[in-house]
Amino acid sequence: MPRSSVTVPFALALTLVAGLTACGGDDVHGKPGAAGVGDPYFPKMGNGGYDVTHYGLTLSYDPGDKRLKGTAEITARALTDLSAFRLDLSGLNVSDVTVEGRSARWSRAGQELTVRPRADLDKGETFRTTVRYSGTPRTITDPDNSEEGWLRTADGALALGEPTGSMAWFPGNHHPVDKAAYDIGITVPEGLQAVSNGELTSETTAKGRTTYAWHTAEPMASYVATLAIGRYDITRSTAKNGLPVYVAVDPTQKQASEKVLGQIPEVVDWEEYNFGPYPFSSTGAIVDRPDDAGYALETQTRPVFPGATDTKTLVHELAHQWFGDSVTPKSWRDMWLNEGFATYAEWLWQEDHGGNSAEKIFDSLYKGEYYEPVDSSEVWAFPPADPPGAAQISDPPVYYRGAMVLQKIRQLVGDDTFYDIVQGWAAAHRHANADTADFTAYVEKAAPDKDFSGIWKNWLYGKGKPAHP
Ligand code: TRP
Ligand code: ZN
Repeated sequence: MPRSSVTVPFALALTLVAGLTACGGDDVHGKPGAAGVGDPYFPKMGNGGYDVTHYGLTLSYDPGDKRLKGTAEITARALTDLSAFRLDLSGLNVSDVTVEGRSARWSRAGQELTVRPRADLDKGETFRTTVRYSGTPRTITDPDNSEEGWLRTADGALALGEPTGSMAWFPGNHHPVDKAAYDIGITVPEGLQAVSNGELTSETTAKGRTTYAWHTAEPMASYVATLAIGRYDITRSTAKNGLPVYVAVDPTQKQASEKVLGQIPEVVDWEEYNFGPYPFSSTGAIVDRPDDAGYALETQTRPVFPGATDTKTLVHELAHQWFGDSVTPKSWRDMWLNEGFATYAEWLWQEDHGGNSAEKIFDSLYKGEYYEPVDSSEVWAFPPADPPGAAQISDPPVYYRGAMVLQKIRQLVGDDTFYDIVQGWAAAHRHANADTADFTAYVEKAAPDKDFSGIWKNWLYGKGKPAHP
């Protein structure tokens, strides 16, 4: 159900903090940080005034009573003098907040947890905030009606965060523009597994409970953080160059999953050949049951699939490791940089493995003869670089027309330059953020003798179905 969405200007996000004044500090010179980072689709997501460098999450969860208990240690650098700052947290009960070990005043309003440290924070200062919390985490319904946040599964739980769900299980700066390293420790009843991003650094059992410690060294946007709790068959292997592969599969999905998951090393290898070096220190997958989630998600190093998947979807979610997880959008308006590339990766895979060429797929989409269950008129509903609202950021134009933009570039520059652009783009913004303007500038610089203005105007930003020879 599409909801009517209005773009909220950055200025509004800033005025939201106007009512807050610094008080009670023993050194007052800063101002409160903003309650958002100015995202056009999700104005309350993220917070101004600081940059998180590391999240240390110590969590416990029992599927029996459905309660999550957590301590979040958030290390951040102040970007300005701050009298107060905000974290995003939805639901759950906060019991205590400290900054640099001293108890801090805090208050909550909607998803904003406002923290006032005893003393103002100085611009450039690194500070550690500790938030203790507990409760039954909630499921969040997206503007497009899909479910994310904390999902209860048949045998445990699954945390999915695109675009806003991670605030349902830990407080943080929940906007893709603030990436950080993570250590996630999770304690569950003995006999259950807990799987997250990155590498498993320890697993200890005591008094009937098992603690799993997961480490993510490379920057991670909070929307691709994940946690899967339940019974899983775990398979560890290595791909080329010794890249660790950690795959967790719900036992009911094991047989149907085996063949496709066995392709992970081959897919990563093919994607490295096409996109450049794999950006993280491990890979793998998490497969839950078909009813546990409504979609697959490119959670960092370890995409989540609801039920046994197919090669095409595996190629898509692993391509997101380069396009989305490593090169991350600056705002949710830039979603096509994720989904256009991941969809184009599916086309390239088919082209390289005896299927239709990307050009042929483009043509069939253009003619309305595409073989996927997508109403081809939907592909022209809006320009990929400018979805009309938050409810449309995962609609067909973002995926298919986004991929068509890449095919138009390829047609104009030829294969050699095209692959240089794809690899150069992934390298130029590796572990960072980029937007559509960064992309068009990059492409223009890579092929200075070509005129891309028609592609940008008609295919990227233009309304309606562009002309195509
Ligand atoms: N990113 C997912 C994929 O295509 C799909 C998805 C899930 C999504 N939730 C979303 C896209 C929210 C946009 C917004 O692999
Ligand atoms: Zn995708």
